[in-house]
Amino acid sequence: MPELERLHADHGPAVLAFELENRAYFAASVSDRGDDFFDRFADRYDARLAEQEAGICAFYVLVAEDGSVLGRFNLVDIEDGAAQLGYRVAQLATGRGVATATVRELCRLAAGRHGLHTLRAATSHGNAASRKVLTKAGFVPAGPADPADLGGKPGTWYQRDLASGGGP
Ligand SMILES: CC(C)(COP(=O)(O)OP(=O)(O)OC[C@H]1O[C@@H](n2cnc3c(N)ncnc32)[C@H](O)[C@@H]1OP(=O)(O)O)[C@@H](O)C(=O)NCCC(=O)NCCS
Repeated sequence: MPELERLHADHGPAVLAFELENRAYFAASVSDRGDDFFDRFADRYDARLAEQEAGICAFYVLVAEDGSVLGRFNLVDIEDGAAQLGYRVAQLATGRGVATATVRELCRLAAGRHGLHTLRAATSHGNAASRKVLTKAGFVPAGPADPADLGGKPGTWYQRDLASGGGP
């Protein structure tokens, strides 16, 4: 069974492989990370771990039994009991409910482990799969998103009040 694990230094090589193998797939829906991300991966990765250590973010990876990364699920900009949710799933693992199940699990962790009461996620109008994931995980539309946050595409902010239970 894949396990949702808190990101740590040892995940680095598997995270890089995940990002490289799925770069074109992700770039079709969300902004590409850019060459600099890959060229300076070790520095960027260490910086993310430092942010996590500081409590600004909480990063999770869904790890398969062979150690490969199947998905990344992140809580960023944690402040005043709220955070922004982001996620991406390896192309080979899509279409099986992985994102929906893991977003639901992360909602439970966000409330129970991180003490958060609200999660927000922005998704573009063209990203039907992501909108479906959010809706099935109990998020509701909360207003228009700035295209600057979505690689220039129009979209919507979704929000989930974690205290309400928000679905299955
Ligand atoms: C979006 C993403 C996370 C979905 O991962 P996933 O594990 O396939 O998601 P799930 O299987 O849990 O659910 C996807 C749902 O969208 C549906 N779906 C997929 N493609 C679709 C499309 N083009 N149009 C409409 N619905 C679509 C699926 O049928 C499924 O719904 P169902 O369970 O009711 O059948 C994955 O495609 C991804 O990583 N995309 C690139 C990065 C990204 O967009 N991240 C989100 C940024 S907001």
